[in-house]
Amino acid sequence: MGEHMTHRVGIVGGDGIGPEVIAQGLRVIEAAGVELDTVDYDLGGARYLADGTVLTDEILDEWRGLDAIYLGAVGHPDVTPGVIERGLLLRMRFVLDLYINYRPFVAPDGGHDFVVIRENTEGTYAGEGGFLRKDTPHEVATQGSVNTRLGVERAIRYAFELATTRRNHLTLVHKTNVLTFAGDLWERTFNEVAAEYPQVETAYNHVDAACIYFVQDPQRYDVIVTDNLFGDILTDLGGAVSGGIGLAPTANLNPEGVSMFEPVHGSAPDIAGKGIANPLAAILSGAMMLDHLGETDAANRIRSAAESVAADSDGKTTVEVADLVIGKL
Ligand code: IPM
Ligand code: MN
Repeated sequence: MGEHMTHRVGIVGGDGIGPEVIAQGLRVIEAAGVELDTVDYDLGGARYLADGTVLTDEILDEWRGLDAIYLGAVGHPDVTPGVIERGLLLRMRFVLDLYINYRPFVAPDGGHDFVVIRENTEGTYAGEGGFLRKDTPHEVATQGSVNTRLGVERAIRYAFELATTRRNHLTLVHKTNVLTFAGDLWERTFNEVAAEYPQVETAYNHVDAACIYFVQDPQRYDVIVTDNLFGDILTDLGGAVSGGIGLAPTANLNPEGVSMFEPVHGSAPDIAGKGIANPLAAILSGAMMLDHLGETDAANRIRSAAESVAADSDGKTTVEVADLVIGKL
């Protein structure tokens, strides 16, 4: 891998600040000396409003043949919540089976880092449920949590393997005291897989307690594994306590197929078009993509450069922050 391969990457800038930060991420990748063969996909709320397209089977088929997908953010204030999120982002995660949502965090002092492995295809996100007697006084809405042995086990196994490459410590986060069915499956699976990794020290936290520890004692964590919704909430908190959500990157991984890279943050329509979005989360997501493409050297250089300008990024424009990163490469 490396210099002689051209990497075919699908680009989905998406909505709001998404295209702005992805443009800078691509500039940084180029400045780091990696050539990408990019294919643009005009998708997101604006495209949906223009012609009704959310995502097609043809596009999904094309994506299966790519080396990676680089995505900005989706979600548009003029589109009913859920249409784009479910129809584009979640459909991509589900159909491409991007079952690992990998979210690394580095504490502001650079001293402590930890990773949240969020199960990315199941739980309350699966779409189980519906309405009965909608718009009547007797309306019922249900939204079930889907947890399969396969889905839970592959996320847990991934997290144990990752822990062995780090500090050999893995924490399961759930709510086993209340979610006694799903929690039981997660806990049993976790304990069974743990027996295969005697070198990994394990811990368990209820998700509410984990919120306290994220703020007061994140040093206790190395790798965390958790379900889709707990992981969604906990990783916004992780961003907030480690330098801000403007710094948090994500890899949506299918270890056997194509993977997708995106910032944790959303489309932020309130600041879209102003050129003031922090591009560092997108830039760091780009570095994760380069790691995945085998461009480890460029990935490491981008990461060090981005981390070294993070403290200076407040109050700067999107382009200024990217310029600073490029200057440090
Ligand atoms: C994230 C986002 C998505 C999620 C939304 C946009 C559907 O918040 O990637 O964390 O909930 O997974
Ligand atoms: Mn989220």
